[in-house]
Amino acid sequence: MLLTRIVQGFTITGLGFLTYPFIKAWIPKFSRDLSLKVDLADIAPGHSKRVHWLGRNLYVYRRTPAIINRLASSSEELKDPASENSRQPAFANNAFRSLKPDIFVTYTNCTHLGCEVLPTDFTFKCPCHQSDYDLAGRVFEGAAAPTNLEIPSYRYLSSNIIRLELVES
Ligand code: FES
Repeated sequence: MLLTRIVQGFTITGLGFLTYPFIKAWIPKFSRDLSLKVDLADIAPGHSKRVHWLGRNLYVYRRTPAIINRLASSSEELKDPASENSRQPAFANNAFRSLKPDIFVTYTNCTHLGCEVLPTDFTFKCPCHQSDYDLAGRVFEGAAAPTNLEIPSYRYLSSNIIRLELVES
C-alpha cells in the first residue's frame, strides 16, 4: 500500500514536470510594458505633437523661450497656480509643470467635461465651454473647468526621447 502511494506520487510529479512546458506554451503572454516612447526631435518650438496612449490623447508641446519667460513670471489670474488640487506627478510641482521648462506633456482632456483642448499661441483652449489654460495647463479664473490639465508620468531616456509611464498608486 505504501509502495503504491510512493509510486503514484512519483508518477504524478513526473507528469507535472513533463507537461509543464506544454501548458506554459498555451498560456497567452501579456506584455507588462505599457510605456510609450515619444521622439521630441520633430517638434518645433511653439508646436506640439499629439500622441495616443492607453486610450487617451496627449500633447507634447515644445515651448519657446518667450513662453518659458512668461510662465516663470506669470501674474495671471489662475484658479490653482501651484497645482495643489490637480492631478500630476510630484516632479511637476514647479512653475512649468514639467521635468524641463521647454517640453510640456499633458493629457488633452479639459477637466470640465472632457472635451479636447486646443493649443493656441498662449493658451490651451477648450472649444466646448471656452475654458482657457495657460501653456503649463493651469486653468484661468472664471473658467468652467475646475482644475488644471492632468499631467502624466514620464521620464527622459535621452535629450530627445521621453517615455510615458504608468505609475502604480
Ligand atoms: Fe471644457 Fe466644458 S468641457 S469647458
